[in-house]
Amino acid sequence: MKELNIGFIGAGLISLAHGLSVKSLINNPFFKDVSITLKKVADIDQSAIERFCNITGTKKTTTNPMDIINDDSINVVYILTPTRYHKEFFLSAAEKGKHIFCEKPLAFSLSDIKEMIKARDKNNILAQVGLVLRFCPIFWYIKRIIEDNKQELGKLLTAIMIDDQEWPIAGSTHVSDWRKDKSAAHAGCLFEHSIHDVDILEYIFGSMKDLFARIRYISPEAQAGLEDLAILNFEFQNGGTGVLTSIWHKIRRDFRHLELYFENGNLILQNYTGLSFKSLKGKIRKRKMTLASSYKEIKKVYIETNNLPNLKTGVDTYSYENFSFIKSIIDETPPYPSLEIGLRAHKIIESAYKSSNTKKLIEL
Ligand SMILES: NC(=O)c1ccc[n+]([C@@H]2O[C@H](COP(=O)([O-])OP(=O)(O)OC[C@H]3O[C@@H](n4cnc5c(N)ncnc54)[C@H](O)[C@@H]3O)[C@@H](O)[C@H]2O)c1
Repeated sequence: MKELNIGFIGAGLISLAHGLSVKSLINNPFFKDVSITLKKVADIDQSAIERFCNITGTKKTTTNPMDIINDDSINVVYILTPTRYHKEFFLSAAEKGKHIFCEKPLAFSLSDIKEMIKARDKNNILAQVGLVLRFCPIFWYIKRIIEDNKQELGKLLTAIMIDDQEWPIAGSTHVSDWRKDKSAAHAGCLFEHSIHDVDILEYIFGSMKDLFARIRYISPEAQAGLEDLAILNFEFQNGGTGVLTSIWHKIRRDFRHLELYFENGNLILQNYTGLSFKSLKGKIRKRKMTLASSYKEIKKVYIETNNLPNLKTGVDTYSYENFSFIKSIIDETPPYPSLEIGLRAHKIIESAYKSSNTKKLIEL
């Protein structure tokens, strides 16, 4: 029988989402003849460990993250700490031959990520990056509508994405200390949050060709070098254009808004669930698969089409992400999204900073 003994490094907010979804995969009939255990969790903060264990039922704990890496019985490591530590834990765990799930952002620089890719290949391990929107049923569904209705929709004119979130350092939606510390977080809303947006835009429309960016440091918190406004204006290889606006503000909100305009139709998504879809010719609405009107229906189509278990964890998207990672470890197939996909998202973001600093259009 195959054994997956999983160790978590970091027991904060995102660890809870991964912990709950990994737990739901233990004894799941989708995985036959496999023993999956969430064996041990490490965090430097004992109170975070206690909260994590109370919610997930994990028994073994440590305040030394190297205990996870040096534990020979653990063969899968999740890296869920502030971004500053990702690379060092990744390289140590890879050296020990452990498979790795690493949260986004992967690291502070493109050269650090390339080192992580080399370590993955040298040690023959499997690794996945936490670009979780690729497992969000609604974005999968949008991509499918566009592909299935290519003729009727015509060319993409423009994609407008807005990602606005309360500063995740105090407030009410997400509290963390390290995101106001440049040495721990590296940068602000574009790097820390909208890395998901640039990735999902390429997932839907293919590669971007070039971009021009304006990045601003407006509020007192941003003066530490953490941008609170980034506006990216780009063109895809397919000729379509787009704008991504990424904001951290003081309003209690965590919102993603996407408007897509084609020659003959438009598609508008309000914060993950409210999707409206119109074709000037009126043909698209008649198609059976495009009639899903609520998130519940879209989720049903997503699960059925992708042969996923219906996991009732309350953290749907993370459950599909973890299912995919664990399945690829069991099947010994390359996990998706790969570190290379992560590197590409980082490249777009690095190019945006460069464009803003030089006031020049950057070819990607
Ligand atoms: N994919 C997503 O949707 C998503 C969402 C949120 C966060 N993230 C990413 O996950 C990572 C963690 O974010 P979070 O929101 O859970 O932060 P968090 O502050 O809630 O939790 C981080 C935890 O790491 C612990 N920690 C700090 N230094 C450590 C060390 N050296 N060793 C072990 N533990 C240490 C902290 O005590 C804390 O409990 C970040 O890289 C973040 O960008 C991803």
